Amino acid sequence: MQLQIDQITKTYPGAPAPVLQDVSLTLDAGATLALTGESGSGKSTLLHLTGALDTFDSGDIRLGKTAYSTLTEAQRADLRRTQVALVFQQFNLVGSMTVAANLRFHARLAGRDDPAFADDLAHKLGLEALGHAYPEQLSGGQQQRVAIGRALAMRPALLLADEPTGNLDEATGDAVLDLMLDLVHDSGCALLLVTHSTRIAARLDARLHLSRGRLK
Ligand SMILES: Nc1ncnc2c1ncn2[C@@H]1O[C@H](COP(=O)(O)OP(=O)(O)OP(=O)(O)O)[C@@H](O)[C@H]1O
Ligand SMILES: [Mg+2]
Repeated sequence: MQLQIDQITKTYPGAPAPVLQDVSLTLDAGATLALTGESGSGKSTLLHLTGALDTFDSGDIRLGKTAYSTLTEAQRADLRRTQVALVFQQFNLVGSMTVAANLRFHARLAGRDDPAFADDLAHKLGLEALGHAYPEQLSGGQQQRVAIGRALAMRPALLLADEPTGNLDEATGDAVLDLMLDLVHDSGCALLLVTHSTRIAARLDARLHLSRGRLK
């Protein structure tokens, strides 16, 4: 599904000026796009809007045929549950669930629980021996691999990643990024990835730079 962001402007309540202004971009199904920019330029805000986690002042976002501006809150929740997956710098795994249960958690919520697919992801992510472990027993790199598997197990149309390797050392981060890009290519979902690193950005199909809320 194609993602189309069309002239989005966003102002946080009480803020004197918009944090994003007239931001437009297109991301084709299966394509990968890096979003760079200095701290405070609005990268995470744009990711949150794209994930239907927050609302914008004007413009629109479309995922396939769905225009976000037309959705009710329940429909927005449905979109988050079934179409868009998120991976954050903080891994956000469910501490009371095993790795195997975490991997299937979002797929189950999306009504797409597929144990064989989850097992295949676990295998590709090198997690098959860790199925019975709990998140706190894993290294950072292992936890982020679980988070990526959990995101892709629900077969999203769009994967949004905010500094997914930001908490990992360079070698571990590179290995996690390699796995993520491989799995994204296999799955055919689109990837929008926020990163401070031009080196990481160069690994994706294209790169856009945000500066004070505007795309350059
Ligand atoms: N929930 C919020 N309420 C009010 N202002 C916010 C909120 N979230 C972010 N902001 C402000 O919006 C601007 C952009 O923040 P955002 O988190 O999108 O930047 P970023 O590019 O992701 O930065 P970083 O690289 O540090 O993560 C900042 O000035 C920030 O203070
Ligand atoms: Mg941010």
